[in-house]
Amino acid sequence: MDVLIGLQFGDEAKSKITDMLAEKYDIVARYQGGANSGHTIYHEGNKIVLHLIPSGIIQPHTKNFLGNGMVIDPYGLMQEILEVEKYIPGARDRIYISENAHIVTPYHLLEDIENLNSIGSTGKGIGPCYRDKVYRQGYRVVDFIKNNLVIDPIDLLGKDENDFFEFEQFRQGTEFMKTLNVVPSNWLREQEGTILAEGAQGTMLDIDHGSYPYVTSSTTISSGAATGLSMPPQSVKRVYGVCKAYLTRVGNGEMLSELTNEIGEKIQKVGREFGATTGRPRRCGWLNLDELKDSVELNGVTDLIMTKVDVLENMDTVELYSDGEYHTFPGWEKSDLSDTNLIRFINFIEKKLEKKIDMISVSPEREGIIII
Ligand code: GDP
Ligand code: IMO
Ligand code: MG
Repeated sequence: MDVLIGLQFGDEAKSKITDMLAEKYDIVARYQGGANSGHTIYHEGNKIVLHLIPSGIIQPHTKNFLGNGMVIDPYGLMQEILEVEKYIPGARDRIYISENAHIVTPYHLLEDIENLNSIGSTGKGIGPCYRDKVYRQGYRVVDFIKNNLVIDPIDLLGKDENDFFEFEQFRQGTEFMKTLNVVPSNWLREQEGTILAEGAQGTMLDIDHGSYPYVTSSTTISSGAATGLSMPPQSVKRVYGVCKAYLTRVGNGEMLSELTNEIGEKIQKVGREFGATTGRPRRCGWLNLDELKDSVELNGVTDLIMTKVDVLENMDTVELYSDGEYHTFPGWEKSDLSDTNLIRFINFIEKKLEKKIDMISVSPEREGIIII
C-alpha cells in the first residue's frame, strides 16, 4: 500500500495527483476525514468536485474504498454519487464502504453550523462526529445498515422546523446507503491488487501534529492510513507528499508567511484559491520551508510533488520563507525545466529539504505534470 498526503494546510491539489496516479493502482482508499474535503478533478473538460468519494473514481478500472477512519454524511454521499454518475456512469458499483466508518448525523451538522466557531470549520459536522466517536457514543455505518437503527428527532422539538427537513434528508441518505456495497472493516486486507491510500486535509491540520487548536479532528498524516483502513503498518511502502509552490490556508489560525497585500491577492486570483467545499477565499502566502521540512520528515515522504508551479509564472520576484527569514528569487516565465529561474527555485527547496522533488504540476489537468 502506498499513501498520498498533503504536506501543508490542505488543498495542495492532492486529488489531481491521486487521479493521475490511480492509473496504476487497483484500489484507492480514503482513511480519514469526511465532507470537509473538497477535491477538484478536471476530466474531459468537466470539473468534478469530490468530498467523500476517493479521487480514484474517475479511472474506470479502480475500486474505491471509504475506510473505517472516515466520517460519512449519508445524504451528502447520496448527492455526491448522483452528481458523479452524470460523468462516470455506474460509479456506485465501484464504491465500497467500511461498516466501521462513523456516521455524521443531523445533530452533528447542526451543532457544527451553529457553533461556526473560532476555528472556522467547514460546518460539515466533522468535529462533533469525531468527538462522539472518541467518547464512544457515535453511530457507525453498521448500526444503520445491519442493525436498522433509527434516529428520532425528538430531541430537537422546539427548534427550527428546518431541522426536521435535515432529518428527512438523513433518512433518505441512510436508505440509499443500504443499496451500496457496505463491507466488513477488514475488506482491504482481503483484496488483491495495488492500493493507494488518499489523505485528506494536510499535515498542518493534523489533530496531533498540526497548528492545534486550528486543526481538523483526524489523523491526516501518513501514519493514519494503517489504522484508518484496518491495515498493518508494514504495508505502507511509498509515501507521496504533495505541496504547493506557495501556501494557502482556509479558516483561522497562524500563517507566518501570509501575504495580506496585492501579491497575495494576485496569487489568490491566478491560482483560483477559493474553497471547493465552502467557497471561502483561501489565505495565500509564500512557501514556508521550515514547516515543510518538518512535514516531509513526519510523513516519511519518499516521493515529493510540488503543484501549481504555473501560478507563480511571470512574477518579478518569488519568495520563500526558510530558517526564519525570507529569500528572494527572480520569477520564471515558463513552468518548464528549460527556465533557469525555476530550476534555481527548485534547487533551493531541494537543498533545504534534503530531498529531491520528483514531479511538478503545471496545470489542473491530469496531463499537466512534469517528471523531474
Ligand atoms: P485538494 O483538496 O488537495 O485535492 O486540492 P483542491 O482540489 O481543493 O485544490 C486544488 C485546486 O488547484 C483545484 O482547483 C485544482 O483544479 C487546481 N490545480 C491542481 N493542480 C494544479 C496546477 O498544477 N496548476 C493550477 N493552476 N491549478 C491546479
Ligand atoms: P482538503 O481535503 C483545506 C480546515 C477548515 C478549518 C479546519 C477545521 O480539500 O485538503 P473542520 O470542518 O475539518 O472541522 O475544519 O480545517 N479544513 C480544510 N482546509 N482543505 C481541506 O480539505 C480542509 N478540511 C478542513 O477550513 O480551518
Ligand atoms: Mg481541497
